[in-house]
Amino acid sequence: MYNQEIIEKLGPAFAEAFGEGGAAEAAYYFAPGRANLIGEHIDYNGGHVLPCSLTMGTYAAVRKRPDRVIRFFSLNFPGDGVVCSSLDDLRPLEDHSWTAYIKGVIWALGNRGIELDCGMDMVICGDLPDGAGLSSSASLEVLAGFVIGDLFDLPLAERELAVCCQEAERGYVGVDCGIMDQFACAAGREGCAMVLDTVSLDCRYVPLDFPEIGLVITNTNRKHDLRTSAYNERRQQCAEALEVVRRCGEAPELAERCAEAPEVVRRCGEFQALCDVTPAEFAAMESAFDDPVLLRRARHAIRENGRVRQAAEALKNGQIEALGKLMNESHRSLKEDFEVSCRELDILAETAQELPYVLGSRMMGGGFGGCTISLVRKDALDEFKKTLREVYREQTGIECTFYEASPGGGPAKLTMR
Ligand code: GLA
Repeated sequence: MYNQEIIEKLGPAFAEAFGEGGAAEAAYYFAPGRANLIGEHIDYNGGHVLPCSLTMGTYAAVRKRPDRVIRFFSLNFPGDGVVCSSLDDLRPLEDHSWTAYIKGVIWALGNRGIELDCGMDMVICGDLPDGAGLSSSASLEVLAGFVIGDLFDLPLAERELAVCCQEAERGYVGVDCGIMDQFACAAGREGCAMVLDTVSLDCRYVPLDFPEIGLVITNTNRKHDLRTSAYNERRQQCAEALEVVRRCGEAPELAERCAEAPEVVRRCGEFQALCDVTPAEFAAMESAFDDPVLLRRARHAIRENGRVRQAAEALKNGQIEALGKLMNESHRSLKEDFEVSCRELDILAETAQELPYVLGSRMMGGGFGGCTISLVRKDALDEFKKTLREVYREQTGIECTFYEASPGGGPAKLTMR
């Protein structure tokens, strides 16, 4: 399951970066990336999501140091050379390099009163494409948290690890993300997807075993950066849409517009998150929205949450076709109502949706670039890739990349032979 090629590079890279002899003292670790079957942009709206961890992920070779220095080297960013920092130099929101994801976790642990008593040397290498929506950031955060937990004898439960990594991303890196990515990377189970309640963090695992269907991830090779994309803006718009919903219960002029559903209006003040509203309740309050943008944002979140519930049920009953249809609807909603897709994602998802051997296809993750996820009949995988590659090249001039994904396990310490 692990990428042997990467594992074999870590020792020599460690010796080169930090001196001969060091590699023998290093311990080796892995943390996965994640895919998301359905449930996009609702992990910060109190919804349910359906992600899985991947066999692709991030690897590290690490040893403790006698002082407070932290040294990093990444085989994915060799041009950066060895980056030196210190436990006394953690500056939230100022750090814009990949090391911020690791330092952010140390910072978040510090906020919980967990102080490291010495620094570390770390070599990192991953097989997740950067900025492609497969959570290379969460994978690195979870890796850092897991490494620290193991090296410093601070075992963190999966949930705590996920929450701490989310805090790193929000407070240190500056992306106001939800919990999905960090949770999926921290708590994955091989062969399974998870139905995660993003409020209670209750999580149920559902086997993803459809021998004839492959899970294919297609990279637009258009990078996204959640720090500069409209991610935080979407989050803000959802908060404003929730305010409209809640005001329906208080402001008489709004309540009047929803007069046909007095029982819904009565409950409006109680909604804590957009996804507390059911699609049926939402239909009764649509007329309370003056701003069409906020209406569309709310409609996406509320209906997407409904789709996740249906998808979880479909998976449980082995109805993979139904899951595929829900994925197609999710794409349309992300494109038209939430407006986080882009031309490249639409070409890939919509071309795939037309193919007879594709059950469903949609953009995945934050959007504005990155990857699509498709359910494809295994006997037509080559045909699928050929068709998408040609259409995409013709319409964009860009080459897309394919990954046949399989759901992997959570973070792990690796035993080296
Ligand atoms: C990014 C965020 C997640 C989630 C997705 C969209 O991956 O990190 O928390 O909001 O976007 O579903």
